[in-house]
Amino acid sequence: MSNITQAGTRDVEGPLLELVDVKTHFKTHRGLVRAVDGVSFSLDRGKALGIVGESGSGKTILSRSIMGLLPSKGTIREGSIRFEGKEIGNLDRKQMRGIWGREMAMIFQDPMTSLNPLMKIGRQIAEPLRIHLGMDRAGAWQTAERLLQDVRISEASRRLNQYPHELSGGMRQRVMIAIAMACGPTLLFADEPTTALDVTVQAQILDLLNDQREERNMSLILVTHDLGVVAGHTDEIAVMYGGKLVEKAPTKVLFARMKMPYTEALMQSIPKIDDPSHTRLLAIGGRPPDLVHPPLGCRFAPRCLYARDKCQTEEPPLVQAEDPAHSYACWYPVGSAEYHEAKARLAETPVTVGGRG
Ligand SMILES: Nc1ncnc2c1ncn2[C@@H]1O[C@H](COP(=O)(O)OP(=O)(O)OP(=O)(O)O)[C@@H](O)[C@H]1O
Ligand SMILES: [Mg+2]
Repeated sequence: MSNITQAGTRDVEGPLLELVDVKTHFKTHRGLVRAVDGVSFSLDRGKALGIVGESGSGKTILSRSIMGLLPSKGTIREGSIRFEGKEIGNLDRKQMRGIWGREMAMIFQDPMTSLNPLMKIGRQIAEPLRIHLGMDRAGAWQTAERLLQDVRISEASRRLNQYPHELSGGMRQRVMIAIAMACGPTLLFADEPTTALDVTVQAQILDLLNDQREERNMSLILVTHDLGVVAGHTDEIAVMYGGKLVEKAPTKVLFARMKMPYTEALMQSIPKIDDPSHTRLLAIGGRPPDLVHPPLGCRFAPRCLYARDKCQTEEPPLVQAEDPAHSYACWYPVGSAEYHEAKARLAETPVTVGGRG
């Protein structure tokens, strides 16, 4: 192992992405919205990380913080974001432009509005190739055709000359993936890439993302409110609640031994097929925390069926579970004596579904 790392040289031995205590806040008339409030994690090359959490938990803002694509009024107030060993959390949009496309790309949450309805598919894929990779018109068009084949779109050369409305939802999502992968990014963000699609197409798109990740040794951050989506398609899962990362584990470990009652509740509220996108998860009673005035203790405590006094007043730190790669922030985790005691009590006295919200 070499520790001679010159300034500007890629630190190829470390993680691809490393966040330390990242805080992204919005200034609003109500006060400071703490959309991302002290998130730390790292991601290795070629790995897939799922970021899971209810609507409003900060998944998109966290991804956009890393990409340097925050909406106006949003700023990274604190913390460090290192990508390939280099600090990028303090770069402005102009400096980030050199990273977009070739290093990081994003499939945005709303694919139907991300494609330009007035522009042929071919041009929408070819343009980033010309801008970021300096390809000429013919070369970019040829590459666009190959990219459409990569994302398993049949009759690629004909599709290049079509407009988005001529394609099905699943095909448009494949085009979005082709655009995101055009410049061969090292890290791809996919924000709810399958929410608007039916279940069969969802599975195909997720398989496609995984195949491409493996073929290209690309890392993937898959953002979703649906634990079912990340189950078979990620190496690790990070669970977000109220702007914080509250549990993180290798996917198999999380499904086998989740610690947070919130993760357990997410697991029990896998959305129904015919829910429209952005449906709140109704199985967890109560409302997400106010991010201007978050609860004092554990942010989930007001909705947690197993919470005790301590949970309301003292914030649980992120601690390591039996598996060193598993961490969680809960005073009385799933499986603890207190959890079982509360569960037994709940079984005796039926409460309204959804707890104390
Ligand atoms: N432009 C903005 N101004 C103020 N607050 C914002 C802004 N954008 C997002 N937020 C707030 O930041 C928090 C996190 O939002 P974010 O979009 O990251 O949630 P999410 O987990 O992606 O939710 P969803 O599953 O609905 O996409 C929310 O409370 C939201 O209201
Ligand atoms: Mg989102």
